[in-house]
Amino acid sequence: MKSKSSTIFIFFLISVSSPLLEASNNGNRLFKSEENQAPEIKRSDFPPGFLFGAATSAYQVEGAYLEDNKSLSNWDVFCHSAGCSKDGLNGDIADDHYNLFLEDIDAMHSIGLDSYRFSISWSRILPRGRFGEVNPAGIMFYNKIIDNLILKGIEPFVTINHNDLPQELEDRYGSWLNQQMQEDFVYLAEICFKYFGDRVKYWVTINEPNMFIELAYEQGIFPPSRCSEPFGNCIFGNSDIEPLTAMHNMLLAHGKAAKLYHENFQPKQGGLIGLVAHCYMFEPLTDSELDREAAKRAFAFNVGWLLDPAVFGFYPEEMRKYLGSKLPTFSYEEKKFMEKSVDFIGINHYSAIYVKDCTNSSCSATGNCAIQGFVDKAVESDGVLIGERTGLEYLFVVPRGMEEIVNLIKTRYNNKPMFITENGYSSPDLQEQRVSELVNDVKRVEYHTSYLAFLAKSIRDGADVRGYFVWSLLDSYEWLEGYNVRFGLYYVDRKTLIRVPKLSVSWYKNFLKIKVFLWIKMH
Ligand SMILES: *[C@@H]1O[C@H](CO)[C@@H](O)[C@H](O)[C@H]1NC(C)=O
Ligand SMILES: *[C@@H]1O[C@H](CO)[C@@H](O)[C@H](O)[C@H]1NC(C)=O
Repeated sequence: MKSKSSTIFIFFLISVSSPLLEASNNGNRLFKSEENQAPEIKRSDFPPGFLFGAATSAYQVEGAYLEDNKSLSNWDVFCHSAGCSKDGLNGDIADDHYNLFLEDIDAMHSIGLDSYRFSISWSRILPRGRFGEVNPAGIMFYNKIIDNLILKGIEPFVTINHNDLPQELEDRYGSWLNQQMQEDFVYLAEICFKYFGDRVKYWVTINEPNMFIELAYEQGIFPPSRCSEPFGNCIFGNSDIEPLTAMHNMLLAHGKAAKLYHENFQPKQGGLIGLVAHCYMFEPLTDSELDREAAKRAFAFNVGWLLDPAVFGFYPEEMRKYLGSKLPTFSYEEKKFMEKSVDFIGINHYSAIYVKDCTNSSCSATGNCAIQGFVDKAVESDGVLIGERTGLEYLFVVPRGMEEIVNLIKTRYNNKPMFITENGYSSPDLQEQRVSELVNDVKRVEYHTSYLAFLAKSIRDGADVRGYFVWSLLDSYEWLEGYNVRFGLYYVDRKTLIRVPKLSVSWYKNFLKIKVFLWIKMH
């Protein structure tokens, strides 16, 4: 290409639009309200280099729960002893991704994904934590995934811990309630950096500590099933204190692993490390001063709880005010590494929810608790739902929430680089539906289209968002919901484990085909 002056050539390869998609979109506008009206959205609305991907987590897809010297995880034990989901099933087999991963990587490649976000099963690579040997078969499994992704031009985006841990660490010392867990986690992270870090450039230390802790130590419905009244009726636990202890250990574990990466691995390996928060958009139920304060407090108690320490090195002011000396503190040395602990913020965003003030009004029993920041959640205002229902009773379709949450996080954390590490739609209860209906997931396509439009808006307004991951690649084991809540781009038949692409696969494929190639020539 000959050119005398600085020239920028931009080439668009416009894809042929799919007749299937057009047909199903006709007469099917789902978001009628003005504020949720989404404009057309194209890949070229996102910056060059932006990563589009899909996500999974180990326990939810791998299965093979005892293959090749893997030990029992907390979820294996929990599911086997009590039954762990509404459909009575568990993750023993899940999607058998452990054996079918090549097929799944081919599927990702056929969609045109830039990146795949997956998590490491701790009990597969360190069956006894730091009390035993590294399991070579576990290392080999993730090496195969990483190498085959790279072979197909797909960037591995690795979560070191996503809810599951070796049961031995629970039995020995109480896992996240004990400071020893920090040491075990840093050891796991070091093994990951050492064995995989030459090829993995995106690391997440821990997925959604806020959601995990609320379910495990406040409501007591995730293992290790610890809670107290009024949150639940567990045998052990203390919902006012243990969530704070567990979070403090998780944050220090994250911070120490990030420090190790920054000092010993990043200079040579050149990747980035971050933390992923579950992020509701909290909207005030009414326009009153009290409810607007409550919405700010809800953000601080849920999202600020982990992101403030990871960016500033201390807990939010609001938490300090309401929890006083119950809230742990970071020492001077800890603050110094905590405040530098994330290169990016991972945002898992699905829904908005209303909140109302409970400092001085009659609220639900849990709304009146300090650990909840004296806020109650509500799903409707004046009898109108905040958004269309989904397959989970606490998640609604509120596309504007994507722009709102990204802008909030951008402002509070000085526009640190962000990734939308999860965003997805589960269809309302589908037990009765036929496969043909399940795969015609028009609403999922609408969901992603409109959420992406609002994400693009925040990016146009300056938010430094660098990637977007659909939750999830496959219908998988959705924890307590079992297999009937389906988030996948692919339908998975429970008997044959055959993957069937849904309409959303052709949507994503088409969306991603419009690639922008940018050449900049300087003379
Ligand atoms: C599992 O562990 C045993 C005992 O250490 C070993 O002999 C065997 O080769 C291991 N299996 C795999 C698949 O690595
Ligand atoms: C809080 O409750 C007290 C006593 O019930 C009442 O006197 C006061 O006005 C209330 N304050 C607000 C801000 O509603």
